[in-house]
Amino acid sequence: MEPTQNPDPTHPEVLGDAGALAAAGEALRPLPLAELHLHIEGTLQPELIFELAERNGMELPYAGLEELRGLYEFTDLQSFLDLYYANMAVLQTEQDFADMTRAYLARAAAAGVRHAEIMMDPQAHLSRGISLETCVNGVASALATSVQEFGISTLLIAAFLRDLPEEAALGVLDSLLAMNAPIAAIGLDSAEVGNPPAKFERLFGRAREAGLRLTAHAGEEGPPSYIIDALDILGVERIDHGIRCMEDPELVERLVEDRIPLTVCPLSNVRLRAVDTLADHPLPAMLAAGLNVSVNSDDPAYFGGYVDDNFAQLNAVFALSEFDRARLAANSIHSSFASEERKAELLKELNDI
Ligand code: HPA
Ligand code: ZN
Repeated sequence: MEPTQNPDPTHPEVLGDAGALAAAGEALRPLPLAELHLHIEGTLQPELIFELAERNGMELPYAGLEELRGLYEFTDLQSFLDLYYANMAVLQTEQDFADMTRAYLARAAAAGVRHAEIMMDPQAHLSRGISLETCVNGVASALATSVQEFGISTLLIAAFLRDLPEEAALGVLDSLLAMNAPIAAIGLDSAEVGNPPAKFERLFGRAREAGLRLTAHAGEEGPPSYIIDALDILGVERIDHGIRCMEDPELVERLVEDRIPLTVCPLSNVRLRAVDTLADHPLPAMLAAGLNVSVNSDDPAYFGGYVDDNFAQLNAVFALSEFDRARLAANSIHSSFASEERKAELLKELNDI
């Protein structure tokens, strides 16, 4: 990858000045990449929460934006999930889901995202009395015009809540298949510890039989054995987070050898206290170990930023080399569930920079 020849006026910095930019904490020119770990409900910004509440005639339990923003101090995954699920109450209509999705796509385009694999949590809406049609069709209607409007190809991942019983997940998967929902993959999220992958063996087997791609959160708060079980029992192709693999050298060796993608979310890990500070994040060690890692935003409205913010803050702390930034972007493209043709297009775009 060559340093930019013609600096873009909106991004006057040149890639060759990465060190100086890191020192100044300025944003880098975004590289074209794929975002593989993104919960669409985690893109719901406080302003949109208030807007949707008003549109739907709902009373929020917060006096205003400042009071809501004051709640974004998390001590662990569960403390975040409590607010994340509570705020979903404002998502009532297809239009609400579409507006949230379009807002993410617009912001992601500015962050350099050219392909997005978007998770949604259907069970978190069903439990509030919102139908599968409302949430799926709402998100899907925004994705349908994403290439034309934002230049972002997309696919949808139905994520299942691991703190609920497998029976519930099986019922929802069957309903999604029966309605021909435009999903390409399934995922597994929510409270990890105490809900190991083995609990969902039948769910992942059924999804595989239905031709769906498979990913699961593992090794965010849970131990390395959850990563091993997600691979061996669920047969997933990708691991979401996976940072705790670094506690098990044999597992690291396996992940490197098999090129298993790990969709890492640095700002999320800091905000949910999986790591103490960004400077303590294992990403540089993961790169050095040869792991197939990418950088993603997880729940950007909650964790302090989109994928470009993650890169900017990583760069400010670690002064990532141009080579490593390009490697992270290339890993994201190689690790996506996009067609080989689309991957080739994106890799060419990255190489031409
Ligand atoms: N981990 C687990 N479940 C989630 C997350 C996460 O980071 N974000 C939304 N649901
Ligand atoms: Zn996640």
